[in-house]
Amino acid sequence: MLDITQQPKEPLIAASILSADFGAMADDCRDVLGKGADLLHIDVMDGHFVPNLTMGADMIRGIRRHFPDVFLDVHLMVERPGDYVASFAQAGANLFAFHVEVCKPMRPDGVDAGELIEHIRGAGMSPGMVVNPPTTIEQFEQGIGPHLGDLDLALVMSVNPGRSGQKFIKDVLGKTRWLKERAGSGTRIEMDGGLNLETTPLAVAAGADTIVTASALFGSDDRAAVIASMKAAGA
Ligand code: DX5
Ligand code: ZN
Repeated sequence: MLDITQQPKEPLIAASILSADFGAMADDCRDVLGKGADLLHIDVMDGHFVPNLTMGADMIRGIRRHFPDVFLDVHLMVERPGDYVASFAQAGANLFAFHVEVCKPMRPDGVDAGELIEHIRGAGMSPGMVVNPPTTIEQFEQGIGPHLGDLDLALVMSVNPGRSGQKFIKDVLGKTRWLKERAGSGTRIEMDGGLNLETTPLAVAAGADTIVTASALFGSDDRAAVIASMKAAGA
């Protein structure tokens, strides 16, 4: 099992199954893992935080059954992440990443991030926090800053969440640089959205060490080359 608290020598590639073939999920996951993907990224959407509905504990459980040793990075685009801690841990998730936009102080009646982080750790998972493109760097600092030392991963969205296949938003790179200056070596800095062979070098240069890819990877007819090129962006 991958230890995400260890600084990787080259960027980790997180294959986002949102662009996999849902009718042949295990086969598609096996294919990208065999071609060098380091972990699987599972996008959970609740139809409220984002309009789309995707997958939940049953998908995590199914993937875990087929891949007992693969790190499962679960990205929750949901209004009430705390509702899913126990069921996702039980299903086999390794990392549970929730959005700063559903937490205090951005949402005064929202989630207490400190309590949720403790809840996630108590359930045996790694905690992660995620920030959307429109969230300002000040809001981001206020939301994530006090918790940075307790997180195993901070995720900077480089598209507005909801679906794969969108264009990379370069303006968010300032948040990645901010994280790179402040996060300790035990906290992975992940970027997600619009990452391909052109944009991955920008993300890595800004400090990202974990690259999520859906359409650029699953949509390619040479997936091994995509993964190798993305990893080479860190060389
Ligand atoms: C977007 C999801 C992403 C998405 C990335 O809401 O969080 O993980 O699958 O898709 P690409 O790599 O195609 O931008
Ligand atoms: Zn994602």
